[in-house]
Amino acid sequence: MRLNNLQQKILEVKKQKNALILVHNYQVPEIQEIADVLGDSLELCRKAQEANDADMIVFCGVDFMAETAKVLNPDKKVVIPSVKAVCPMAGMLSMITLREAKTKYPDAPVVLYVNTLADAKAEATVTCTSANADKIVRQLGAKQVIFGPDKNLGFFVQKRLPDVELIYVPEDGHCRVHRFIGKGEEAMELKKQNPGSEVWAHPECEPEFQEKADYVLSTGGMVRRANETDAEVIIVGTEEGLIDRLQREHPEKKFLPAKKYSVCGAMKRITLENLYIAMVDEEVEIHVPEEIAKKATVAIERMLEMS
Ligand code: 13P
Ligand code: SF4
Repeated sequence: MRLNNLQQKILEVKKQKNALILVHNYQVPEIQEIADVLGDSLELCRKAQEANDADMIVFCGVDFMAETAKVLNPDKKVVIPSVKAVCPMAGMLSMITLREAKTKYPDAPVVLYVNTLADAKAEATVTCTSANADKIVRQLGAKQVIFGPDKNLGFFVQKRLPDVELIYVPEDGHCRVHRFIGKGEEAMELKKQNPGSEVWAHPECEPEFQEKADYVLSTGGMVRRANETDAEVIIVGTEEGLIDRLQREHPEKKFLPAKKYSVCGAMKRITLENLYIAMVDEEVEIHVPEEIAKKATVAIERMLEMS
């Protein structure tokens, strides 16, 4: 692969500063191409936990992901290229709502999606991602579980574990990108037009779409499924950055978006230009208050042990 001038400069600075560039699957292709690690939320959490050798972590993703990397590496510099890379879903869970639920259901463990801010994670029993949510809830063996903020991920879990009652915090937490993808009508129309094709939905998609899809997978699960399937056409229900990755890795297949222009504006705040500046200036640095970080790290590490 031929790298452009800016990509080459970023790699030079990276080497000089012994930095580790972690990149989420929804980033633009030119950033994906220069990642040390490109992955889903769980894979990036794991890599952040093992980042002992690097002097600086540069996170190309959204706020809660960079915060998680900082919580797992309190003594390391963690930098995000744009302060505007803020996940709206993570902001949907207020501490008031969370504490009210904990008071009302004192015996229920709290399982929070990693798409939450560190102060919420500090109040959780364990975190989860779209790759391990059902596995984590199952292992808790509880009858009632406080779960949030993504209600659609909750549906995914509830379907696999019908005997567990999920108490949602907040009541209608969701990802606006996956809500925009809709209930799957367009995806099924595409499937009809492409006999032999497969339809994939992310667990953040609406329940109606999850029910229609052939597979419901995290972005990392989609990457693995692409390596296994014989289908030549795949209809992908998630943010379009992942489609760029899949198409690059499997040029012989055709990946179609379940809905055109499914773009996460927060993820797309990171550009090659601001990544370069972030590496040179070592800014914007992520800070998490020590007390919060100490508590949040317990919930995140518990997840990593359980998955
Ligand atoms: P995964 O990459 O873990 O499937 O999550 C998608 C997402 O929306 C992260 O914000
Ligand atoms: Fe947040 Fe949705 Fe964007 Fe993921 S895709 S970062 S959940 S807004």
